[in-house]
Amino acid sequence: MDRTQELTSNYTESQDTASWYTYQSYVESSARTYSRVIDKVIVSGKGSILTDADGKEYVDLLACAGTLALGHNNPEIKQELIKYLHTDEVMQGLDILTPAKYAFTKELLGLLPEKFRDEARIQFCGPSGADATEAAVKLFKTATKRRTVLAFHGGYHGMTAGALSLTGNLSAKDAVASLMPDVHYLPFPYDYRSPYLVQGDELIETSLHHIETVFSDPESGITKPAAVILEAIQGEGGCIPAPAKWLKGLRQLCDEYDIPLIFDEIQCGFARSGDLFAFQSADIMPDAILLSKALGGGMPMSVVVYREKYDHWKPGAHTGTFRGNQLAMIAGRKGMEIIRRDKLAEAAQKKGTWLKAELEKLKQKYTFIGDVRGRGLMLGIEIIHPNTARSPKHPDLGDGSLASAIKKQCFANGLILETGGRFGAVLRLLPALTISMDELERALELLDLSMSQLAQG
Ligand SMILES: Cc1ncc(COP(=O)(O)O)c(C=O)c1O
Repeated sequence: MDRTQELTSNYTESQDTASWYTYQSYVESSARTYSRVIDKVIVSGKGSILTDADGKEYVDLLACAGTLALGHNNPEIKQELIKYLHTDEVMQGLDILTPAKYAFTKELLGLLPEKFRDEARIQFCGPSGADATEAAVKLFKTATKRRTVLAFHGGYHGMTAGALSLTGNLSAKDAVASLMPDVHYLPFPYDYRSPYLVQGDELIETSLHHIETVFSDPESGITKPAAVILEAIQGEGGCIPAPAKWLKGLRQLCDEYDIPLIFDEIQCGFARSGDLFAFQSADIMPDAILLSKALGGGMPMSVVVYREKYDHWKPGAHTGTFRGNQLAMIAGRKGMEIIRRDKLAEAAQKKGTWLKAELEKLKQKYTFIGDVRGRGLMLGIEIIHPNTARSPKHPDLGDGSLASAIKKQCFANGLILETGGRFGAVLRLLPALTISMDELERALELLDLSMSQLAQG
């Protein structure tokens, strides 16, 4: 019996889920992440409830890293997919026009802010968010004939080489010898851990002044950028919303210095923040937006939508085999229709406002909660070492070990959430936009219970 046969017979035929999990650890790479905490076999999902092979239920506040905006197995999306599978329409179409693609692009354009829509071009990319990042960088380097890209501390744009180059988190970069050159980083206006020792309006002014200095100083060391890329609400970086006033200021500076501005809406987009797109909180127009996750209604798909004036690409300048995933177009179109029809941005805002207020109450109860922040259904709880003397120069130390312990305790109690941010100390809540108030209340009870168990322990 060879190794694979041995593993298969030992583990997969067993009904014991611990054995299945051991099997996974043998056959999959050690880069596994979520499955290190979610160490059960998940057999079904409905809305915001997942069930494991032992029949245990979990309230899911992760929604596949924010991908399943309409929850697991949304019945309307499923129905559309089943209907499509009964036709002889194609499954894949490269970049050829099909009825599914026509309907998808119409729905997508319909969701965009009018001013942007009127001059928008869509580039279909490979299936992942990182593919959209890669495409956008190429697009703007081509259009501007410049080589530098500016990104932000704490930003996350994916794990492929170019996208990783634009990502703040060092742990994934440390081991990789050479990434894309000519990327420079600016501090993000992270009020709780202010990079400039000042907060609020002063932080906004100082940050914008810093950026203007980089743009204008002939000795800044940074050549004129092809683009600036950012998330209006940083997700993996720790759920950090950029203040609207700062976003407006950044837009003005980019206009003044003729530098394209790319909003990565892969996580914060599609109604999650309470606006259809998170940059809309500042009432500004992007030069490009990156979309993935919710875009495909649960199926893999990504696009860059950008202003026509930057379309300097020659035919074939950016290709990719899986740009024509028709099932993603079918599911995605239906998903967008539901987001619009059911006013899910408003729903996210209402539910998020309620949830945030409840989390603030937990903050009063537990000294290890340093900050509660976010917008809509994209909320973060920063876990700290309590009783550290806090000052702008010495913010509380993030307690990544406690955050991780809370996450594990939550899972044991039947609640799935994620950590992220500096020191891994931010508990991140990214539920489906369709999560019910009952489910949110249940999630809150489980979170409180898990925190209280650890506070006692
Ligand atoms: C803001 C943002 N950009 C890009 C990506 C990369 O997307 P993918 O993992 O599909 O490559 C992510 C993924 O979490 C993200 O949150």
